[in-house]
Amino acid sequence: MSADTTYPPSDAMASGAHADKAKYDEMYAQSVSDPEGFWREHGQRVDWIKPYSKVKDVSYAPGNVSIKWFEDGSLNVAANCIDRHLAERGDQTAIIWEPDSPEDEAQHITYNQLHHDVSKFSNVLKELGVGKGDRVVIYMPMIPQAAYAMLACARIGAIHSVVFAGFSADALAARVNGSEAKVVITADEAPRGGRNTPLKTNADTAFEKIEVDCKMLVVRRTGGDVPMTAGRDYWLHEVEETVSADCPPEEMNAEDPLFILYTSGSTGMPKGVVHTTGGYIVYASMTHQYTFDYHDGDIFWCTADVGWVTGHSYIVYGPLANGATTVMFEGVPTYPDAGRFWAVCQKHKVNQFYTAPTAIRALMGQGDEWVSKYDLSDLKVLGTVGEPINPEAWNWYHEVVGGGNVPIVDTWWQTETGGHLLTPLPGATTTKPGSATLPFFGIQPVILEPTTGEEINDTAAEGVLCMKDSWPAQMRTVWGDHERFEKTYFADYKNYYFTGDGCRRDEDGYYWITGRVDDVINVSGHRMGTAEVESALVAHPKVAESAVVGYPHDIKGQGIYAYVTLMGGEEPSEELRKELETWVRSEIGPIAKPDLIQWAPGLPKTRSGKIMRRILRKIAEDDFGALGDTSTLADPSVVDDLIENRMNK
Ligand code: WTA
Repeated sequence: MSADTTYPPSDAMASGAHADKAKYDEMYAQSVSDPEGFWREHGQRVDWIKPYSKVKDVSYAPGNVSIKWFEDGSLNVAANCIDRHLAERGDQTAIIWEPDSPEDEAQHITYNQLHHDVSKFSNVLKELGVGKGDRVVIYMPMIPQAAYAMLACARIGAIHSVVFAGFSADALAARVNGSEAKVVITADEAPRGGRNTPLKTNADTAFEKIEVDCKMLVVRRTGGDVPMTAGRDYWLHEVEETVSADCPPEEMNAEDPLFILYTSGSTGMPKGVVHTTGGYIVYASMTHQYTFDYHDGDIFWCTADVGWVTGHSYIVYGPLANGATTVMFEGVPTYPDAGRFWAVCQKHKVNQFYTAPTAIRALMGQGDEWVSKYDLSDLKVLGTVGEPINPEAWNWYHEVVGGGNVPIVDTWWQTETGGHLLTPLPGATTTKPGSATLPFFGIQPVILEPTTGEEINDTAAEGVLCMKDSWPAQMRTVWGDHERFEKTYFADYKNYYFTGDGCRRDEDGYYWITGRVDDVINVSGHRMGTAEVESALVAHPKVAESAVVGYPHDIKGQGIYAYVTLMGGEEPSEELRKELETWVRSEIGPIAKPDLIQWAPGLPKTRSGKIMRRILRKIAEDDFGALGDTSTLADPSVVDDLIENRMNK
């Protein structure tokens, strides 16, 4: 196939799908010409306790950003994900849990069972003093209780903040303090890829730095021996014995917060992205249904972790709101071998499979035989998310995993957007490898000229990607810092939502994401702020200064390249390099460990002391010819030293 081969939906796919091309065109046109009418209708896809009369009230005006959807309606998200399905499909499997080791048995949890377990869990939280509006931090392995914990919070109106289990004790403590959480929910240990992470022990370490009055609820996963602190720590299974299985869902306003999720930005500490109740569940469920063309009875598997937004919207909330069967996988793609994903697809007869380009690239390198030995004939849709997918990986996914006839949906979105904004629909959209294609219903992307902020109206355009107008699952604020919300997303380009991504639109109006235009990097599909890694490095007593940039990495998409200037009198050594790697792991987590550390006697700075990251990026990218103007540097000779001592990939 040539590089510009395109893939129209098959006739069979188009005729059975929720939307074919004509339907997409019609719905999209309505969604942007009459957003009120469109969302008034589609807001009804979920059950409301009190119906809404107002659909949308949004202002992007500088100094007055305010986003509200369905604001006078009330509902409960857990009731929408569980209770409303009981009459029709109480005995259907809601969650298939596939454990880390293929030798352990998978669990099939029905909607009835989910209702029972989540109700109990809700009463346990109440027993620990959690009420409506309180914050609960969830630091869990990928086990069903992680989903129960989220749904239990939603049921009683508490606001959850899931912290990825790969984050360190320090990162956990910062998030607990930041949200003033009342309870941290964790597990004894987290098995992953055959190894156990001591989650409870990490949480104990975090508690040394937790400044708020907080309890710990511990789920037994491995049965490992963990110490419990009396009066602070509680076993879930013990408290569950004392509570009833009856917990009526709390009535929540559409704009009450549902969850906080911390995500990296270009400056400073991660920010708490706030999503609210009504708009989020409408949009998460609608995108899940249309993007994956989900039909009743299908088995849906998203391989993300619930610690990321993808796990929130497409393992838990979207699928369960649709009464789906959703697979939750505790393990990793390469354990016990590189065929695990495909073994699980075969075993559970997965129909829609959703993963990240980094996993696809890693598995592609292991050879086709790991895929071809499994029966993948149940697959109907393959999805990707998290970073741009290179056409080579796209083609491998399409040919080898999908056998050449399963549509690929390359979904572009962000923690901030709550759900897909740019994506093909399997029965409607002709795909082009590497392009996230076209906007979802209600989404109005624009390309702006980066410096002037002018909207480029030609179809073919390149610049920064912004959104005109709002959609129901848009984030509402930064937890505790509305000013930061306005400054980050609405200040650079007035009256638009600024995504932070660069983008090209081709002559067919297709969108191609070119990557972040800020100091956020995307490592194995995990979002990292370079500033976070820098502040971890400079917190080490031997480090004077540091600058961190991304560089192209074959598997991870981007790797972390750290330039480090040591304190006077300190000597670089391999030992110190290892020490810094371990240090960053413990400050943030393994995903933040620098791939390359270069000792830099000096960093390129302007005379006013600003580090010229553009130059550092070029050196890390091995692109010395394109260093650009270095004449504004205070000391241009530092650049020669950096080039000479560049680390090899
Ligand atoms: C990037 C993940 C290209 C993008 C859901 C965005 C993508 C950031 C894609 C958000 C895609 C996500 N193609 N780039 N299909 N999906 N990105 O908040 O740079 O972890 O701004 O949300 O990932 O990352 P986040």
